[in-house]
Amino acid sequence: MSDFADRLLHWWQDHGRHDLPWQEDRTTYRVWISEIMLQQTRVATVIPYFERFMESFPDLSSLARADLDQVLSRWTGLGYYARARNLHAAAVKCVQEHQGQLPDTAEALHALPGIGLSTANAIIAQALNQRAPILDGNVKRVLARHGGIEGWPGRSAVSKALWAASDQRTPVDRARDYTQAIMDLGATVCRSRSPVCSACPVSHDCVALRDHRIGELPGKKPKKERVERQSRFLVLRNHQGKVLLARRPPSGIWGGLWCFPEGESDPASPTGESLSRLEAKRHEFTHFRLIMRFDHLLVRQGKGLVADHEEQRWFSPSDALAKGLPRPVQAVLQELAKKQSN
Ligand code: ADE
Repeated sequence: MSDFADRLLHWWQDHGRHDLPWQEDRTTYRVWISEIMLQQTRVATVIPYFERFMESFPDLSSLARADLDQVLSRWTGLGYYARARNLHAAAVKCVQEHQGQLPDTAEALHALPGIGLSTANAIIAQALNQRAPILDGNVKRVLARHGGIEGWPGRSAVSKALWAASDQRTPVDRARDYTQAIMDLGATVCRSRSPVCSACPVSHDCVALRDHRIGELPGKKPKKERVERQSRFLVLRNHQGKVLLARRPPSGIWGGLWCFPEGESDPASPTGESLSRLEAKRHEFTHFRLIMRFDHLLVRQGKGLVADHEEQRWFSPSDALAKGLPRPVQAVLQELAKKQSN
């Protein structure tokens, strides 16, 4: 795997990022601030924030002395404000417990608020040029694909395999450049959507590329299995082309919305002239999946079967579509309107 690092470093020389503001004067403090800002935010967005932050808080002691409000105001617009609160708390902790210095081991950095294991290692590698494997979102994607590591990285067995893959590939020499290089590869080449495999320095032994599984790796978070319920709806239409809708009770699913009447249907019903099945629809609720079946029935008028009243009325398709409707009901009405106009 040492060959992996060589190819990556060679690529990075020409195609990587070399002039980011935190790559100058690489103190632990500056690298730490940049890594926290970059956790949920893109490089281009971070750059001006990083520069303003450094003007206000050029070192650890100025950050520790500042009011939290001052720190938060410098953060305005970056989002995920827990990051700013953690930065401030970590600075205070360093004054209290580390003689006003940021620690110089990954373990001690990891013990500070807001610094995960990968971030701690990224700081050590970039600030101190020491070998320290990282595993942020971009790197997980590179490794899952290159190593053909299956499964959702949130699962501990998968995470373990990814950490092992990161460890295996991380070289002793040029730890700083390698760390930047693998992050850059993930951000610019091995992108989540539309990766540019033709520009990738490690494509020739990439398992996902070989097996045509780039789109499948890394594995997605498994969807929770939901219980399934079925319901039958009557799509009644009269000879004017109007449809019958009933307002749903205020509580329960789709409370207060207009919907097709729900319940039993009898295909031999003498009031119906013709019955056809419309395509069933599935609708996902938080805790269950509803399979909706629709019986489509043309009814003769004047049978008194379904009298107009406040909560159950005939609507022209356009009036119906202007009402508050559940999404699948809206879809059925649109399909019917389309059929009618054909
Ligand atoms: N994301 C996290 N750290 C980064 C860095 N140093 N450069 C580019 N993207 C990053």
